[in-house]
Amino acid sequence: MSDYLPGLEGVPATRSNISDIDGERGILSYRGYSIEDLAEHSTFEETALLLLDGELPTAERLEEFTQELRQNYRVKYNIRTLMAALPSNGSPMEMLQAGVAALGMFYPGNECLTGSAACTDLNYIDNMTVKIIARMPALVAMWEHIRNGYDPIPPRSDLSIAQNLLYMLHGKDPDPLMVKIMDTCLILHAEHTINASTFATLVAGSTLASPYAVIAAAIGTLSGPLHGGANERVIEMLRQIGRPENVKLWLDEILASKQKVWGFGHRVYKVKDPRARILQKLMTQLSAKREGKPSQLLGTALALEEAVMERLGHKGIYPNVDFYSGILYMELGIPADQFTPLFAISRSAGWLAHWREQLSDNRIFRPTQVYVGKSLRQYILLAARD
Ligand code: COA
Repeated sequence: MSDYLPGLEGVPATRSNISDIDGERGILSYRGYSIEDLAEHSTFEETALLLLDGELPTAERLEEFTQELRQNYRVKYNIRTLMAALPSNGSPMEMLQAGVAALGMFYPGNECLTGSAACTDLNYIDNMTVKIIARMPALVAMWEHIRNGYDPIPPRSDLSIAQNLLYMLHGKDPDPLMVKIMDTCLILHAEHTINASTFATLVAGSTLASPYAVIAAAIGTLSGPLHGGANERVIEMLRQIGRPENVKLWLDEILASKQKVWGFGHRVYKVKDPRARILQKLMTQLSAKREGKPSQLLGTALALEEAVMERLGHKGIYPNVDFYSGILYMELGIPADQFTPLFAISRSAGWLAHWREQLSDNRIFRPTQVYVGKSLRQYILLAARD
């Protein structure tokens, strides 16, 4: 029997051609295209299609996919009724998991998954994929209003996913720089090889469960604090620091007590995370737009970045993607507990690409274990136990 490796660290769970990370050189690529090129030239819709189909789409295919998504932004009224019955102070990730699982009941049709063979009906796979990617942003934006006691704002089919998300959240046409920030964040979080939630997608998908159940499993996995959520902690930390002048003293205390600064460092990237570099540029643009008068949060973040670089830069500790994304989402007027749901919206593209890949060569996951319990022993009747 092979050795047990906790967390399956380093154990390949699948063969995939969807994305790749070179942590030593700081390279992330989707289907062979660098994340820098995608962030600069692509859109979330095009990137999602690249992840799903494996190739950059023609203009015609992209238009068809975009229109299919836009026709599917709306969810049935009963989904809204169901959401309204959830506790308003509940976790938005639990709402999203419940909402996506419920979509499976409202939009059934997974007959092709019920056989013993993997599904080869690409129409079904495409159809389900579009429905899920289109509706997750709607659920997240609707929840923001429902939990505050308001009617949700209906989606607009003339808008992209990033535009529509901001429109449904704020009820007005979004500023182009804010749309660019949202769209870039969606591209950057769309895929990141086999992490815990993608692995959950593979395991659930391998049982031929419906795609709604598969994505609900992935959302549940992402909801854990060890996976999604560091960007929310960044905001808590910045609020605790309060203002730029407090940064140096605060940092001295944190480092003296050997605590970590949220939003800095990375396990895989040994150089700066390429996604962080891209978001840093957007932060600079945002700062310029504020004409040297950044919000208190942004000002504190910029001062913290400078101070941490001074103190920890020599150790190769850089701001990571969560440092910038949290601050940018805050500037977009998004509450901190909706950051991980935003991550899930974006990652739905990667999860569904892996679901499709799993079905194309499916074998149900059935790992083994190293049993360390009691050996076979005699059952003791209740009356005879001490
Ligand atoms: N703040 C302060 N010090 C940090 C640090 C941080 N965020 N990240 C790493 N360090 C220190 C380590 O304590 C270690 O110090 P030492 O040499 O004195 O022991 C040194 O830098 C090297 O750390 P390294 O081994 O590269 O980091 P890691 O692989 O153990 O940890 C993380 C990686 C991501 C778990 C860690 O950086 C962290 O907890 N960051 C904060 C949480 C966060 O932002 N997570 C989101 C990641 S996308």
